[in-house]
Amino acid sequence: MSEPISISKDLAKKTFSSNAYPPIYDIGSSINFTDLDVFTNGQPFSQFKELREQAPIFLHPPFLNDPEPVFWSLTRYEDILKVSSDPKTFSSQAGTGTLITLGNEDRRHPKLWRSAIDHMLNLDGDLHINLRREHMPFFKPDYVANLRIKVKAKVSSLLDAINTQEDCNFVTAFSQQLPIFTLSEILGIPKSDRQKLVTWMEFLELAQYIQVEQLKKEIDGEVSNEPVNTDMIDMFNGMVDEMFEYGRDILNSKRKNPSDDLLSAIANAELEGQKLSPEFLDGSWLLIIFAGNDTTRNTLSGAIKLLTENPDQKQKLIENPELMPNFLQECIRMVSPVIHMRRTTTCETELGGQLMGPGEKIVMWYGAANRDPSVFTNPDKFDIERENADEHLAFGIGRHTCVGKPVALMQLEESYKQILSRFPNIRMSGNWKVAPNNFVHAIQEMPVKF
Ligand code: HEM
Repeated sequence: MSEPISISKDLAKKTFSSNAYPPIYDIGSSINFTDLDVFTNGQPFSQFKELREQAPIFLHPPFLNDPEPVFWSLTRYEDILKVSSDPKTFSSQAGTGTLITLGNEDRRHPKLWRSAIDHMLNLDGDLHINLRREHMPFFKPDYVANLRIKVKAKVSSLLDAINTQEDCNFVTAFSQQLPIFTLSEILGIPKSDRQKLVTWMEFLELAQYIQVEQLKKEIDGEVSNEPVNTDMIDMFNGMVDEMFEYGRDILNSKRKNPSDDLLSAIANAELEGQKLSPEFLDGSWLLIIFAGNDTTRNTLSGAIKLLTENPDQKQKLIENPELMPNFLQECIRMVSPVIHMRRTTTCETELGGQLMGPGEKIVMWYGAANRDPSVFTNPDKFDIERENADEHLAFGIGRHTCVGKPVALMQLEESYKQILSRFPNIRMSGNWKVAPNNFVHAIQEMPVKF
């Protein structure tokens, strides 16, 4: 019998190639998207613009002290579309669809590293399609229509619980809560366990930062002004252990006693005739709880900022509720909550005039594509009547296009219908706080007034 599939095992010792051909845009820019602090005031849209105009296929330096070579950084819509649409040339499995670097072998977190790799986003071909098929019933129109009824009631109860006389953090009061509820309904997570997911998410958003800070400290104590807090690292590791233990327990119990939920489908899915290995179960658990939560949560919060900064658009929406679907697409375009995905070349190829060899790394910055003026006129303007708002690439495109898109849109719609009819004066009342993370745009605090 063959071994169960493990992508992390295949990649553990893999090396990637430096550029086989010189960059056609050799601008010597100091822009560095691996510096996580760049992302703490929202996404670096002006730097995306600078690169899109001067070096849309930019040879980006590696992370600090990274053993891996440079990567190609894409900021133009048409290039990101082309890469996403050609998985044979631009693979997700040859180097992951998610991690810019696999990192130094000695520094890999024993559980997080493998689980960040052993899941559907990092599969190509039939393996990917077969596992994706198991997820599909939970995102079909009938299923989502039933779920909508529960989501509507949950939105209502969350809004009831807010004391509108005082300022509140919209993230903890609302945006964090709704996606956890919805996802738990899909996955089949008991009500009593759902708050744990909120805490795990907060720690996961900081995972990248903790690793980088640790590294900075080891290289040079002077680089970081604030000493790394080891209590924080211990707490982080404890949370990670708890999260995976919970995931394995619930998946194992659903393997034995399946019911009509997505975790039962994942627990009993087969790849090449075999049930998923423990590593693949961990990875699938990590993927679904992260992908299904963080993205919707940050769009829910990001929309408040857009509405506050554009009161004319808010008024237009209140007066013309039929604009709601387009408003949501425009919010997702502007927020682009997934900051990037990655691909790896499998052969000699050419992209936008740039020659590339096999084994080269490519990073697609979705927020840059979604503000490309060749597709979106006046791209920095928030325009809820924009005719092609839904052409954004925030959900990805091609074979890995977000499977959760209908659930995300449904939650956003139910939320904003009720929020705007009950609290038409809702607005930001102070500064937001965004996590240092270049993978997800993670809004941690969003003070609002009603
Ligand atoms: C505004 C909300 C969301 C955004 C912007 C978003 C964005 C994305 C992106 C960019 C990808 C990768 C596309 C690629 O590599 O080509 C993806 C994949 C995925 N998303 Fe979402 N997502 C959202 C909500 C959700 C929700 C609510 C769920 C689940 C309930 C979900 C589950 C997934 C899964 C399982 C994948 C992997 C699909 C595959 O590999 O075939 N997402 N999403």
